[in-house]
Amino acid sequence: TNKSKTTMVIFGGTGDLTHRKLIPALYQLHINGFLPEDFTAISIGRRDKTTEEYREDLLSSIKRFSSRNFEEESFESFSKMITYYRLNFEDQSDYEDLRRELESRDKEGVRDSYMFYLAVSPSYFSEIVLNLKASGIREKDSLWQRLVIEKPFGQDLESAIRLNDSISSVFDEKDIYRIDHYVAKEMIQNINMLRFQNAIFGSIWNKDHISNVQITVLEKEGVGTRGGYYDGTGALRDMVQNHLLQLLAITAMEPPVSLDTDDVRNEKVKVFSSLKPFTGEHLDEKLILGQYRGYQDEEKVDPDSGTETLVATKVYIENERWEGVPFYLLTGKGLKNKTAQITIEFKQSNRYNYGKVSEPNILEIKIQPDEGITLHLNIKEPGVVDKIAMVEMDYCQSCLYLFNSPDSYEKLLLDALNGDSTLFTRWDELQLTWKYVDSILEKVNESRKSMLKAYEVGSNGPEDLSSFIDSGANHWWYLN
Ligand code: BG6
Repeated sequence: TNKSKTTMVIFGGTGDLTHRKLIPALYQLHINGFLPEDFTAISIGRRDKTTEEYREDLLSSIKRFSSRNFEEESFESFSKMITYYRLNFEDQSDYEDLRRELESRDKEGVRDSYMFYLAVSPSYFSEIVLNLKASGIREKDSLWQRLVIEKPFGQDLESAIRLNDSISSVFDEKDIYRIDHYVAKEMIQNINMLRFQNAIFGSIWNKDHISNVQITVLEKEGVGTRGGYYDGTGALRDMVQNHLLQLLAITAMEPPVSLDTDDVRNEKVKVFSSLKPFTGEHLDEKLILGQYRGYQDEEKVDPDSGTETLVATKVYIENERWEGVPFYLLTGKGLKNKTAQITIEFKQSNRYNYGKVSEPNILEIKIQPDEGITLHLNIKEPGVVDKIAMVEMDYCQSCLYLFNSPDSYEKLLLDALNGDSTLFTRWDELQLTWKYVDSILEKVNESRKSMLKAYEVGSNGPEDLSSFIDSGANHWWYLN
């Protein structure tokens, strides 16, 4: 038979991520006709709730968090696809009930596909997956079964290995989809296009023409209600190990043979294996840790906490293309604005003397809140005297496309439903990034307290940040 149906099983159905991201993303996929035929979702939570009540909650989440205009009719058809199911993550017999629930939905002559989505606290990841096996759900005859797993994937290399051992005793690597939502952001996906479909960039994307790369992911918000998770984590683990290193790999990788999943992932892995080892010498020239004032008073945060809410670090890639080019990574919470961008600073070109040195060309890849690309050029200021001036050529994507770019989760859910894991993190990528971040943490942990620099909420971070960039004409371009 060719008939099939797809069931998404969401663990953590009453959680924040489900309401803010997953449900609005599914709703938008539904409106645009991207959901597979005969799609349903079972949203699992620990609370007692009827499906009716749950659908009420969905209504308000969609109204609040979906970027599309609300449509009564499409909500009706959408909400009918979703049912609420109560299950205690720690209770084995509950999983057997879930298996019976799934069996009761079997249809004669229709093949099933299952997407299990773990939107729960990481402490349950392993337990849920093992129970999918123990209850017999995993053995159910199906076209495919995939596991989508949120971050954080472990707290260090060791715990990541433990978690991976346990989930890969149940799912094959090819069926494990580890989320990094930054990779799915519209402008990040644009980088391949920009680099490889434009001769002017492809040919100069190397150490001969680029002096440094700055990857900045800044947030205005503090930790909010997430202190319990964040205080044991910090910015290195929460942002650098995954999002920032992924952005670095996508910016720096060699052109993959094709854009097929493994070709792309193999190139990223090569970048991660070429990272110059992080040693403890001259620590302050390679790493700044900051903590915003007032962090220690946040809910569920240790009043004497040494956790970093900001990191600036300098990374080198030891290969032919990038030898000697610093990649500056900066991320932090409680800053002036929420912005993310990748800034490529080219080498200066000063053939003639116009009384003032020219500025380096700068390529800004703007990720959020605005999406776009800006190129800084030196030109002659109009007038009878030759004077050099800097102009910006601007492609504002968010101005041009009046609808919102698809949210990362829309893209990720669709890819996972279609079996495309290119944007998800393969196990070897994860191992290498953890290994790198572990080596930083190891150096930091002895002197963390003395290293930590305080900064004001709403500022541009600690004072010393500006001197962190190597001398010369270079500076943090995000400060412009
Ligand atoms: C998450 C981090 O992965 O990314 C959060 O755990 C952070 O601490 C968030 O706030 C930022 O994502 P975005 O898409 O809002 O920039």
